[in-house]
Amino acid sequence: MRHIPVLLNEVLEGLNLSKNSKVIDCTLGDAGHSEAILDKIGPKGKLLGIDADPESLLRAKRNLYRYENQVIFVRDNFVNLKEIVIANNFENANAVLMDLGWSTPQFKERGRGFSFENDEPLDMRYGGITGETATDIINDYSEAELEKILRYYGEEKLSREIAKEIVGARAVNKIDRTAPLVEIILGVYRRKLKTDKEIPWVGGIHPATKVFQALRIAVNKELEVVRQVLPQAIEILSSGGRLAVISFHSLEDRIVKQFFVKNQNKTIRTINKKPLVANDEELKNNPSSRSAKLRIIEKI
Ligand SMILES: C[S@@+](CC[C@H](N)C(=O)[O-])C[C@H]1O[C@@H](n2cnc3c(N)ncnc32)[C@H](O)[C@@H]1O
Repeated sequence: MRHIPVLLNEVLEGLNLSKNSKVIDCTLGDAGHSEAILDKIGPKGKLLGIDADPESLLRAKRNLYRYENQVIFVRDNFVNLKEIVIANNFENANAVLMDLGWSTPQFKERGRGFSFENDEPLDMRYGGITGETATDIINDYSEAELEKILRYYGEEKLSREIAKEIVGARAVNKIDRTAPLVEIILGVYRRKLKTDKEIPWVGGIHPATKVFQALRIAVNKELEVVRQVLPQAIEILSSGGRLAVISFHSLEDRIVKQFFVKNQNKTIRTINKKPLVANDEELKNNPSSRSAKLRIIEKI
């Protein structure tokens, strides 16, 4: 199933594209945004497409085969944006897009540990084979460090109880799959809510949602890379060029918002004071758009 690009019309309009534009998509994914961008910038337009995940890049290549001569594909973390741009002679871009987070196929693919619906190895790295996995964090971090990750990155209210339970359980058996971790979280919630329901839903949300979000953010250093890429994006834009950032949780959106406010009228001007969000029709057709927030600025 192909990922449905969120806020597509708003991105296309907000990036102020014209024929022949030079555009950077820092998060290619299934290339839904890129495909529409390429249609808009015409046969002389150019796109530099980046994704850290080799499988996403393969899918993007397949989806963009018609535009092969106009696209440079790069498998890398966008935290290296400036270096990537220099290496590919792509300075003075007219537009940069970041659609943060994960594509639908990444969550649905078995085996990466992103989803708590299947029993999978606890990995959660999008970028391949190096760096810490979720298993490393769960088994090696101290109880205090775990608690902090769950509280800060997951905004998990029961972070202390869950961290304690994880430390107790891992002393008996290494926790290296999603199912035992989910069971630990469910156990904590059942006790707290005094229920024996198999899944004690919390406000319509599965109790493991926040812990999984927290681990994903920690494994991939998601907040740090956003913090580091924003100034690079401004630097490599041409004057009058636009940057659009779509974020899916408040921690990311806060970083983007604060960076834009800090640089307002110095290096950038804000295009939309309030973030753009999905309208009713999009929400109906694509429920994953419900938490998307789009912020756009222009380089002065
Ligand atoms: C929400 S999806 C993008 C979907 C895309 N706009 C589309 O229309 O199909 C985000 C993509 O960004 C990639 N990604 C996330 N963080 C990244 C990072 N720091 N560097 C490079 N790619 C990243 C993910 O692998 C994923 O493929």
